[in-house]
Amino acid sequence: MMKKLILILVALTLAASFQLLSAGGIGGLESLRGSSELSHTRPADPLKKVPRDQYDIESNYVFQPPLIPHHIRNYELSLNANMCLACHGWKNAKEMGATKISVTHFTDRDGNVLADVSPRRYFCVQCHVPQNDARQLVGNTFKRVKSLQ
Ligand code: HEC
Ligand code: HEC
Repeated sequence: MMKKLILILVALTLAASFQLLSAGGIGGLESLRGSSELSHTRPADPLKKVPRDQYDIESNYVFQPPLIPHHIRNYELSLNANMCLACHGWKNAKEMGATKISVTHFTDRDGNVLADVSPRRYFCVQCHVPQNDARQLVGNTFKRVKSLQ
């Protein structure tokens, strides 16, 4: 009789603590944001549409890096490969019908002219971006440099 009672008591205690655990423990756990779902995700923004092979938008000022008049999707630009130079490097530009990178791209920061593209000009998209008829984010009254008109 006594043994049976102890068994029932043990079973009850176990059941009670299991319920506590599955309810999130005593007091529950909360992050600093409260007990909100931490794994909220949203789908990535759609890729920007870059008009293919658009006409060249003219420069607005002297020494503006020209805009890229073609799409650049999937053109690898990394430590190991520079797809831009495959067409714009001096070796291939003529064959590819692309504009050669200008001599400025061979000059390092001390003004020395190097035999190959300068490391500071290696990552082309630091300065050159694909052109787009994008909506102005902030209105402005910018006018092209007169000498370029
Ligand atoms: C498959 C060859 C090819 C590749 C790769 C390529 N381009 Fe071009 N690019 C061209 C050709 C051809 C033109 C000129 C014809 C035109 O207007 O589309 C051009 C034009 C440009 C111009 C305008 C030049 C000017 O004088 O106005 C820029 C800037 C440019 N590309 C930058 C880039 C960058 C940056 C990359 C790499 C992200 C790149 N290109 C990759 C072929 C290429
Ligand atoms: C630090 C900014 C910068 C980087 C990085 C850069 N460019 Fe330029 N690029 C310019 C500027 C500014 C001009 C216009 C003035 C000049 O020719 O230097 C230009 C001009 C050009 C032109 C037109 C040349 C001509 O004779 O009309 C091409 C093509 C070009 N860049 C391609 C590239 C490619 C390809 C890369 C990557 C290998 C690259 N650029 C990296 C700033 C940059």
